[in-house]
Amino acid sequence: MKSRIFYPTEVVIEAGGHRSLLPYIPSTNRLFAVTGHSSMEDAGVLDTLRKQCATAGVALCIHKGISTNPLHVDVDAVVDACRNFGADTVLGLGGGSSIDVAKMVAMLMTNGGSSWDYISIGGNSLRKIEKPTLPLIAVPTTSGTGSESTPYAVVTHAETKMKKGMGHPYLYPKVALLDPELLALMPPEQVAVTGFDAFGQALEGYTSGRSTLHSEFYGYSALKLIAENFERVFDYPNDLDAKAKMAWGATLAGLSIGLVDVNLAHAMSHPLSGRFNIQHGRAVALCTAPAIWFNRAHVGDKYTQAAALFGSGGGSADESAKSLIDAFYQLAEKFDVDLKLKNYDLGDVDMDAVAVDALEIGAIKTNVRPVSFEDVSMLLSHVWEGRYA
Ligand code: NZQ
Ligand code: MN
Repeated sequence: MKSRIFYPTEVVIEAGGHRSLLPYIPSTNRLFAVTGHSSMEDAGVLDTLRKQCATAGVALCIHKGISTNPLHVDVDAVVDACRNFGADTVLGLGGGSSIDVAKMVAMLMTNGGSSWDYISIGGNSLRKIEKPTLPLIAVPTTSGTGSESTPYAVVTHAETKMKKGMGHPYLYPKVALLDPELLALMPPEQVAVTGFDAFGQALEGYTSGRSTLHSEFYGYSALKLIAENFERVFDYPNDLDAKAKMAWGATLAGLSIGLVDVNLAHAMSHPLSGRFNIQHGRAVALCTAPAIWFNRAHVGDKYTQAAALFGSGGGSADESAKSLIDAFYQLAEKFDVDLKLKNYDLGDVDMDAVAVDALEIGAIKTNVRPVSFEDVSMLLSHVWEGRYA
């Protein structure tokens, strides 16, 4: 038995912390900030950052416009901008997409090459991360992907549409600032879909086939916080206490998967995002109930424990899985997240190709129950119909 935790990130939970960000990065003279399209500009968050930098004499370059499911060519273009600016520090301010791009930019600034060079295909990548990244600060505005607390970054190939993650301990940020005021800016749809990502990650970390004492503890603790706060953050967007707890739940879920990786639902979600540009949390939500049912006889009493957190009873493996799925379905209905893939406007769909891509996601090997091509095809047919079995 071996359980190991390595986590080099300073985590700060502070309402309004974004207004005094620079003390967390005292060594910066040239700060390169990566963010999404408009949410942070519209809320005045970028102006706050500009003012702080002007007052402190720190040169600031803000790169806006990161889209959900970032493409490798777009990441590479951001690296060029960062290099031209001569940054000494990178800030990721936004959802998981912006933070992931910031992580890859900080890494590529010191390691060189294209983002896709670091993605492993068939077990091998063209290049390996060998050098520490530029100092990286993560300020997540969703709760969420846990990107602020994982050693991963995820990118989609512009032509093949394959979506995959890279991993290395150097990708842990130096500082993660969780500011509930920023999370309070999320519209309800983002609260729901990013929250389902955190839920899925907590559950996958908790029930991983590679499970360790640490990953179980973080996964279960994350699930508890998510169970207690998910509806509250949806119903009461200005409840900063609930926002902080949900954010900490997402960060803990990230810690769990940072140790043992995600597994089945996430592996199936990536081709749905890569091929059809479905936002990550929504894709995870679509795949979660069939994955729970598929794994039910292989997780010991963990689904009983998980269902209890949502106030549902346990019993046999089937009953516990069903209780957990019912709790999940109730949330999806309340949050108006459609769990039938067939209802989405996808254009041409080749489900065999989706299944092949899912099996190419390394995380699928960590699933507690081995998964074949036939299994994934069957599971995806349930995802299509919005059934768990
Ligand atoms: O672009 P803006 O205008 O900022 O709007 C964004 C975007 O439209 C909006 N948003 C984010 N925070 C907001 C907000 N709107 C208002 N107020 C706020 N506070 O939300 C939309 C989606 O943003 P995005 O960053 O794409 O969302 P999410 O946080 O779900 O990130 C998804 C990405 O993270 C990756 C996913 O694959 C996906 O690419 N993941 C990263 C992981 C990691 N690094 O360890 C693990 C995860 O499993 C996941 O794969
Ligand atoms: Mn995820």
